[in-house]
Amino acid sequence: MPTPSYDFRNRTAVVTGAGGGMGEAITLALAKAGAAVTAIDVKACPDSLKAAGAAVQYAQGDLRDAGFVEKAIRAAYDRHGRLDYLANVAGVLWFGRDKSLLETELSVWDEVMEINLKSMVLTSRAATPLLRKTGGGAMVHVSTIQWMRGDPQPQDAYQASKAAVCAMSRSLAMQLAADGIRSNSICPGPTLTPLQARWNTEQIRGQVADYVPLKRIGTADDMANAALFLLSDGASYITGIDLVVDGGLLLRV
Ligand SMILES: NC(=O)c1ccc[n+]([C@@H]2O[C@H](COP(=O)([O-])OP(=O)(O)OC[C@H]3O[C@@H](n4cnc5c(N)ncnc54)[C@H](O)[C@@H]3O)[C@@H](O)[C@H]2O)c1
Repeated sequence: MPTPSYDFRNRTAVVTGAGGGMGEAITLALAKAGAAVTAIDVKACPDSLKAAGAAVQYAQGDLRDAGFVEKAIRAAYDRHGRLDYLANVAGVLWFGRDKSLLETELSVWDEVMEINLKSMVLTSRAATPLLRKTGGGAMVHVSTIQWMRGDPQPQDAYQASKAAVCAMSRSLAMQLAADGIRSNSICPGPTLTPLQARWNTEQIRGQVADYVPLKRIGTADDMANAALFLLSDGASYITGIDLVVDGGLLLRV
């Protein structure tokens, strides 16, 4: 599928969750468009990002660690003397352990909130003064369509944390608009990444695809396309939105 082209030369970005499906795709797409990217994940650096050379600096660490986050984002700014973009992508969906709030272990609830929501608070707090110093910029935060509807098999910590991601994004959009900093969220539908390792047969993937009006499962590149558009100057009049990228799945509800 042809992908749109963007010019991100002389811009710098921080992308979290870069060791996973969407974060890796967003990092590679930004680097291909000319940006210098600091890619953060708790996992080791994927080969694809090593192959990107000097365009990608990898910072391995836990986004729950405020000191690590502050240092990694500060280093991104210091390397280039500017920071233009923050893509908050990292997140977890714990099948089996994250259930109805009436029965989930509260330690699981707290951990999901810390990874999915507080980590984005930490990165946003670290990045905002640097985006201001640069003279403006943009953020995208990855949520999900899942929080907008009920589920017979609930994962309430996930749902609540992702609803909060959209609320956080809108509040940042309002607070930072006067500084020329935009903030938007992306709400993906089903997307084939390591997070969805449970879709491990052609038959299962076929069933999921069949349920989607556009008749396919989303790809990490679909989400990268959305992220690059929202970060780009082409979206310079867009802030505070939740962009649904789900092949039409919400239409079914
Ligand atoms: N795949 C889907 O169907 C889908 C649908 C809707 C929303 N999402 C959201 O999209 C985002 C990206 O997910 P993905 O599908 O690429 O999943 P993924 O599991 O491939 O990637 C997520 C990455 O986040 C990293 N991460 C998790 N906790 C971390 C921590 N504490 N510190 C640093 N890194 C950490 C993981 O190591 C992993 O590499 C997530 O926020 C997810 O909730 C995914």
